[in-house]
Amino acid sequence: MTIALTDFGVPEVPPGIYPPQQDSQLLIDAMSQAGLASGARVADLCTGSGVVAIAAAGAGAAEVSAFDICPRAVRHARNTALADGVSVQVHRGSWARAVEFGPFDLVVANPPYVPQAPADDSASIPATAGPPQAWNAGADGRMVLDPLCAAAPLLLDEGGTLLVVQSECSNVKKTLSALRGHGMRVEVVAQQFVPFGPVMSARSQWLTGAGLLPPGRREERLVVIRADAP
Ligand SMILES: C[S@@+](CC[C@H](N)C(=O)[O-])C[C@H]1O[C@@H](n2cnc3c(N)ncnc32)[C@H](O)[C@@H]1O
Repeated sequence: MTIALTDFGVPEVPPGIYPPQQDSQLLIDAMSQAGLASGARVADLCTGSGVVAIAAAGAGAAEVSAFDICPRAVRHARNTALADGVSVQVHRGSWARAVEFGPFDLVVANPPYVPQAPADDSASIPATAGPPQAWNAGADGRMVLDPLCAAAPLLLDEGGTLLVVQSECSNVKKTLSALRGHGMRVEVVAQQFVPFGPVMSARSQWLTGAGLLPPGRREERLVVIRADAP
């Protein structure tokens, strides 16, 4: 079953919240294709508008816990879940709080993963792209990905699954090897080349210079990584 973003009341989001886009849809599609949400205890770690959490609830999850540091996003996700008639517990705070509520059968995450140029480029990025905390992830793009990989064994129950989406610019191999290092079975289950949006357009020259993006590119490769706990 394919779940489209338009199946939920979330594509239109108020200012200051990450508008669901290709990475959101890629993650929802991977979750849907994996067929793991039904009956599962699910955590959505960086929920934003709540689109992925709500999709999990709509797919029949037994319970869904969602986390975000942005109060505006938390309010919006709560209201949208209510309006859609699904049950999602939306917690305000770091994704790391999920450890208190776990372990989970399925953990999904679309974290910030865009490497951050040393110079502040926020003035060149339109507000419609969402808030900087939705994408800025330190010089290597791994500010959330690294601790998330480290916490995966604590978040997942025996046989549980993590689905995480990231860009090629934030070192896919490092995620694969960190998760493999926990004895998890790991693979890339989905990928998509997407044209640069405003953030990537503003940073493409710096990303290329930093060796994080091949020269001449106008699109980035997004991947969904699946990790199954032993
Ligand atoms: C790329 S957006 C993803 C939103 C939504 N899950 C989606 O797929 O459309 C990342 C979200 O992570 C949130 N965020 C950033 N750092 C976080 C942290 N340390 N803990 C929890 N949420 C965080 C941002 O506020 C933003 O809403």
